[in-house]
Amino acid sequence: MPAIAKEGATPFVPEDLTLPVLREAVQNCRGCDLYQNATQAVFGELETGASLKRPKVAIMMIGEQPGNQEDKEGRPFVGPAGKLLDKCLQEAEIDRRKVYVTNTVKHFKWEPRGRLRIHKKPSMKEVHACRPWLEAELEVVRPALVVCLGAVAAQSLLGSGFKITQSHGKLQHREGFPPIIATIHPSAILRARTSEDRDRDTNVLLDDLRHANTFLAR
Ligand code: URA
Ligand code: SF4
Repeated sequence: MPAIAKEGATPFVPEDLTLPVLREAVQNCRGCDLYQNATQAVFGELETGASLKRPKVAIMMIGEQPGNQEDKEGRPFVGPAGKLLDKCLQEAEIDRRKVYVTNTVKHFKWEPRGRLRIHKKPSMKEVHACRPWLEAELEVVRPALVVCLGAVAAQSLLGSGFKITQSHGKLQHREGFPPIIATIHPSAILRARTSEDRDRDTNVLLDDLRHANTFLAR
């Protein structure tokens, strides 16, 4: 139905903006086609106190979309990228208990390769369709800082011209949003082809996270 495609998730987002209500409602979203091939929607959460209605959050970390493991477990950043992210947060001395993690798009987009489900980048249309959920999360969680992991999240909030390579780690200000820092996605580090690339990307992520922490400590 074109009407739904145009509005994306909007008709499915409840008026009662609390995390438990949103988390339940997102399972019924039909704002784009991605729900069809996914196991479930994966909503954002705080590692602890996920049931709190309005948790106290320092950073909202926004990834791209759930991966294979997230899709099966129904929780964001529980797979390899999440493990690496946790390690980097620890190294940057950011308290994981004050970090809410979520994704730009809430359903896993994939294509089959043999028996594997291979991640497929969401389209701009799907990012746009899913945005009302992200806006609802921002409204409820009200983080002091947003950290966008990777280009999909960064471009969703900062515009399609935003380049991580040029502007990572720099504080960005956008009307109606908390301050935003964009950085490299941990998945990019996992995909690096050489150890030099991996080390360089890891240092970028760590530096940017430390910068985020310095901002929070002001
Ligand atoms: N990558 C993401 O962007 N999000 C997840 O939840 C897991 C991997
Ligand atoms: Fe709705 Fe987002 Fe899932 Fe599309 S990806 S169906 S907009 S929750």
